[in-house]
Amino acid sequence: MSSLKEYATFFGQFRERFETTGAIAPSSRFLARSMTRYLRARPADGPPVRVLEIGPGTGAVTGTIVKHIRENDRFDLVELNEAFADHLKQRFETNTVWNRVANQSTVHVAPLQEFSSDGPYDFVISGLPLNNFPADLVDDIFEHYFKHLLPGGILSYFEYQFVRSIRTRIGAKSERARLKSIDKTMGDYCSKQRIRRDWIFPNIPPAWVQHLQKPED
Ligand SMILES: C[S@@+](CC[C@H](N)C(=O)[O-])C[C@H]1O[C@@H](n2cnc3c(N)ncnc32)[C@H](O)[C@@H]1O
Repeated sequence: MSSLKEYATFFGQFRERFETTGAIAPSSRFLARSMTRYLRARPADGPPVRVLEIGPGTGAVTGTIVKHIRENDRFDLVELNEAFADHLKQRFETNTVWNRVANQSTVHVAPLQEFSSDGPYDFVISGLPLNNFPADLVDDIFEHYFKHLLPGGILSYFEYQFVRSIRTRIGAKSERARLKSIDKTMGDYCSKQRIRRDWIFPNIPPAWVQHLQKPED
């Protein structure tokens, strides 16, 4: 798929389904590199891994993930939007790099909250637009993230820089309460489990990538 078609698909879905798409453009390759930092850094002679990508959209981050999927790894993608899921399936069929790992990869068309897997993952990589969601859904999603991780496994997710603090200042009262609650949920998880945060400026808009590790015990 050409980048132009990818942008057109993404922007079309942004207009139709703003709350769940949550961005006007796919993520940049710089953001994709950060999201895959720990997957890319695993030892060359390490055991096979299981990777779960949540909210892949048109595949801006998926394109980097597939390059690092090795023989015997498992790759599952969970995407709520059927139009995006169809694009992803087509890319697995037609793109040479994606096709190499097509037999190890499955696109699941479902919300994360309804996805059940056949085992936990070493890496959970999420592009969900959490700042658009109700606060209790964000709590629920974080529980799902960690339920799907192996002990010692790594969650990498992104959020746009300063969105909550800006929207908390200018939003209506109910919006401020929602964002404060999301801020508390993310703050609690990050204060206990964050191992790294990347600042990604070449992205529309600039983003932070948060990397959290599930405790071993
Ligand atoms: C901000 S876009 C990110 C797309 C892509 N990962 C990127 O970085 O360009 C968010 C994606 O999450 C998907 N999504 C939103 N809510 C979801 C849910 N509950 N479960 C699975 N996917 C969801 C949307 O359909 C959309 O593809």
